[in-house]
Amino acid sequence: MRPQEIIAAKRDGKVLSESQIKTFIDGVCDSSWADYQISALIMAMFIRGLDRDEQASLTRAMLYSGEVLDFSEIDRPKADKHSTGGVGDKTSLIIAPLVASCGVAVPMISGRGLGHTGGTLDKLESIPGYNVNLTTEEFHRIINECGFAMSGQTADIAPADKKIYALRDATATVPYIPLIVASIMSKKLAEGLDALVLDVKTGSGAFMKSYDDSRTLAEELVATGNKFGVKTQAVISDMGQPLGQYCGNAFEVYECLKILRNEIEPSARPTWELSLELSARMLVLAGVSDSLKSARSLINTKLESGDALECFRQNIELQGGDPRVCDDPAVLLDGSLLEYPITATSSGYLAGTDSFAIGIGIVEIGGGRTRAEDTIDPAVGLRCEAKIGDEVKAGDGLGVLLCRSESQAEHVHKRILNAYTIGPEKCDSPKLVREIIG
Ligand code: URA
Repeated sequence: MRPQEIIAAKRDGKVLSESQIKTFIDGVCDSSWADYQISALIMAMFIRGLDRDEQASLTRAMLYSGEVLDFSEIDRPKADKHSTGGVGDKTSLIIAPLVASCGVAVPMISGRGLGHTGGTLDKLESIPGYNVNLTTEEFHRIINECGFAMSGQTADIAPADKKIYALRDATATVPYIPLIVASIMSKKLAEGLDALVLDVKTGSGAFMKSYDDSRTLAEELVATGNKFGVKTQAVISDMGQPLGQYCGNAFEVYECLKILRNEIEPSARPTWELSLELSARMLVLAGVSDSLKSARSLINTKLESGDALECFRQNIELQGGDPRVCDDPAVLLDGSLLEYPITATSSGYLAGTDSFAIGIGIVEIGGGRTRAEDTIDPAVGLRCEAKIGDEVKAGDGLGVLLCRSESQAEHVHKRILNAYTIGPEKCDSPKLVREIIG
């Protein structure tokens, strides 16, 4: 069937068959479809919609456009966590060693930051020498040796998604749930997992800002995972403010290492609490714990004994990084940064935070990227001091911008300051875990 016929069918609102969708994905992979034809069909899907069967067919075709990893040689259950992305969202670095130290293999394939959200690979690269470009053989070997590995998507994993995602990004067709589901799940299902926990963010710094959209996305992701034989659950978590103590790559790794050292500062508590929640659900879904209570207790034992930190140290060594960061996480921090306080201009209660604006502020000081090919400055960031619900007085610190120069600070200071809304009414701090789906 010619591309024009499939495009016309969707343009006219028809339901595409599994074989039409497979023809499309084959055409993406063998380059027999031009970029303008791929983009035209994606736009028609975006406007006309895809039903559940089409969504499943698209996920399947994208999944089998590449390799599906087989970890049958590893005699442990396999589980992973995926986040839809947020600001200061760093839990992967805590969860992977923690869950691995509890006896679950974690083959974690992650991405880079783009736009206002950060990416696990960028964070890991702030550890000197850490290699995130593992071959499939290295990925297997490292998981066998320390229980987890963290790597970028190889060219063999869901190659159709790589091409389609770039075109969606350029044609304003990213925010459509069936396309997001097929994109995320084609990559996650390729990891050969028994269990998957999804952290679906909601609020100002999330991909899906409205609660209803976040919920629909969570339900669709969970239904798709289960349909493909992977035990899947989603946690809808708050992204109405940055998560934890820091935003910025090296600072976030520092925060995670401090947590793994069981030196948890009060402002880093939410990072720990969300990591614990997601990890416990991974252990239960993977069958290692029979209840959330016993999973939490096992995780706390692994934290307190230092086993999780040791697991991360071993992983850092195996992935070529400098394991001394585990002994002294402060070596990750650049002491020459300018500390520029963001102070409240009125008194009252912190009523809301525009986390999207904060994420963009970090990009503007070099800590993130607007285009995939941009280079980043891993050292810069923001220390988040005030949290929603806190009482603040004019002149109190809301946060501290950690940047390179006075001119950088002046450039983004207003954006960050305007991200904080101070109101007269006392308000509650938002619940971090909003709902569990599945
Ligand atoms: N993340 C992905 O991997 N794909 C999407 O479509 C959106 C977010």
